[in-house]
Amino acid sequence: MSVKKLVAGNWKMNGVSADLDQIRAIASASRGYEDVDVALCVPTILIDRAARAVPGFSIGGQDVHHAEKGAHTGCTSALMLLDAGASLTLVGHSERRDAQRESDAEVKAKAEAALSVGLNAIVCVGESLDIRELGSAVETVMGQLDGSLPRSLEGEAELAIAYEPIWAIGTGKIPTAPDIAQMHAAIRRKLRERYGSAGAGIRILYGGSVKASNAKEIFTIADVDGALVGGASLNVEDFIPIVAAASGR
Ligand code: 13P
Repeated sequence: MSVKKLVAGNWKMNGVSADLDQIRAIASASRGYEDVDVALCVPTILIDRAARAVPGFSIGGQDVHHAEKGAHTGCTSALMLLDAGASLTLVGHSERRDAQRESDAEVKAKAEAALSVGLNAIVCVGESLDIRELGSAVETVMGQLDGSLPRSLEGEAELAIAYEPIWAIGTGKIPTAPDIAQMHAAIRRKLRERYGSAGAGIRILYGGSVKASNAKEIFTIADVDGALVGGASLNVEDFIPIVAAASGR
């Protein structure tokens, strides 16, 4: 099943007011590629300003708390993200699974919290280099999905999966095309098992060192429905060629 590709940028802990110009430039250039969904996941504190700067363009968060509200100092609820102007959020990025010790169960609760208020959620999974070298990458990622996928897909909000091998993030290394194809096919099978026919329409993004120079090839791989882009999403010159590649241009 061919779906509209999604190219989402993850700005991580980058971006202050001065960078709103980059966001404006990216949003404006993205309008030339209506066959691709484009989004930028920015630091929480920038969401409101970014969303106001680029009405109609998708701005997202990078994490969300699983609870609706309450005594959770420093945390942000799904409703708060939505209220600030976000339309999506990442959950379970490997940098958070590692540094904040987020478990699969927490990631699942976060995804459910996001979807329940109408916020699209991108659930991130991916193996370490040790696991890849041991030959257990697919098994490990399937385990992460078993624990992290939301129970159901009720409501309007959309779930997407980002496969990001940890060893490919920020390193310039990427898996071989057959390895990406094998993983995305396994993820697709899992989504169909879990959600039936709805699993066929869930977008599976690849992330990890996606650049203008490798995007075209990555987007030709079966079941790669887009990309989650870190470093190359920080400026319009690097990011838009990736959007163009998703558009087949
Ligand atoms: P890079 O594109 O910088 O490798 O980062 C990938 C990533 O972690 C996106 O979430």
